[in-house]
Amino acid sequence: MWRGPRTLIWLLPPPFDAPPLRAYLMEKPLRIRRNPMALLPILTLPDPRLREISKAVEKVDGEIHRLLDDMLETMYDAPGVGLAAIQVGHAKRIVVIDIAKDDQPKAPLFLINPEITWVSEELGVYREGCLSVPEYFEEVQRPARVRFRHLDRDGVLREAEADGLLATVVQHELDHLEGGLFIDHLSRLKRERVVKKFTKAARLEARSSERETEDVDA
Ligand code: NI
Repeated sequence: MWRGPRTLIWLLPPPFDAPPLRAYLMEKPLRIRRNPMALLPILTLPDPRLREISKAVEKVDGEIHRLLDDMLETMYDAPGVGLAAIQVGHAKRIVVIDIAKDDQPKAPLFLINPEITWVSEELGVYREGCLSVPEYFEEVQRPARVRFRHLDRDGVLREAEADGLLATVVQHELDHLEGGLFIDHLSRLKRERVVKKFTKAARLEARSSERETEDVDA
């Protein structure tokens, strides 16, 4: 006897891959709520937000974990070896770093509220670049070794010492938290030249996207 569509639905078997809902909820509650990681747009020179001073993180919670994961994915995709939250528009004192080479296993570092506690007198030089100043590289001189303190991904206070490339990357990323960019370490002439170049490029791009909008509207 026909009992209406509701009964019919109950008679159908569940979809093949569906785990028993109860078990799924108990074992993996995060899997249901979490969205997959996302690539975040990276701000570039001369975006004024890059000059903002970032604020300390008060609580390392799920929202911060989400931002850390998205920043890490964005950095790997770019690709880059370091990324500060302000570069993706969040004025929070958060940095992700991974200086592992392509043939090495990934070794992400999550720095929350990082602070440099000591720098060496000895200096080192690296040719630096920045995801917010794309395709521009210049040599920058900085202390060769640094000691720094930070909260890790679990909110645990850590202290570490770095030399070589890592020392440079840590200093470069911490500059971002103060609204700094590596071009601030260059001569005024070089800095003004690169700012001018990026400002002009941004203006041209804004103009061409305005034209595209007009075309679509027409
Ligand atoms: Ni940078």
